[in-house]
Amino acid sequence: MKRLSLVLPALLLASVSHAATVAQVKAKGVLVLGTDPTFAPFEFKGPDGQIQGFDIDIARAVAKDLGVKLEIRPVGFGALMPQSVTSGRVDMAMSGITITPERAKVVAFSGPYYRSAQVFIVRGGNPGKFTWPSDVKGKTLGVQANTTGQYTANGMLKPKGAVLKVYDDFAAGLADVRAGRITALIGDAPTVADLGKRLPGQFAQAGQPLAAEDYGMVFAKGSDLAAAANRTLARLKASGEYQKLLNTWIVQK
Ligand code: ARG
Repeated sequence: MKRLSLVLPALLLASVSHAATVAQVKAKGVLVLGTDPTFAPFEFKGPDGQIQGFDIDIARAVAKDLGVKLEIRPVGFGALMPQSVTSGRVDMAMSGITITPERAKVVAFSGPYYRSAQVFIVRGGNPGKFTWPSDVKGKTLGVQANTTGQYTANGMLKPKGAVLKVYDDFAAGLADVRAGRITALIGDAPTVADLGKRLPGQFAQAGQPLAAEDYGMVFAKGSDLAAAANRTLARLKASGEYQKLLNTWIVQK
């Protein structure tokens, strides 16, 4: 009993919170960002192998305002959300992560920093003449595991008779679209626009967007880093730097 009374409080403490704080980040001199760098133009490896993109520049600005260096840690999307931040392995996560009420129960979001949407990606020229909302019954549609594309498809497309194929890796879904193994892949609108720039003619958006969404920066619940990130976001917007980052990274339609 005596042993237990010593152990229990320690266990409780350990489970309380891994929230990184502004003070801790300043003390160690680095802000550790978790990101899945397969998501151009938000985070991707450039020709030099360096991880770059819109999210990375925003995270750099947050680190700069805190007076620390940014350390980038690549994490697969499935492990990134939410475990990487709730476990304290990273201080923050950015990866085109959509703000949802379910996720907000487990993590803390910054204010929205980018308006996005879920859209259908088909082979260039749309050979199957796929269109939404009229045409999903019996169609095989791809989704990336653990993403809002999957959640939205479960809610809106499965009940209409679509067959969903789940991919851990978005690139594998794209390969199946190109090979005609699936009719369409559900993905985030700005990444489709970016594909159009990098691989002209190979992919196209079809039909109406499924759902509008907002991206947020992600922190452990209770972390004061979320407020710090919001201050940086406000500064970038007021100074015009936010607009410059949009112009640099994101294909405007
Ligand atoms: N916006 C979607 C979500 O939050 C997809 C994000 C996927 N990001 C990535 N780096 N693979 O679920």
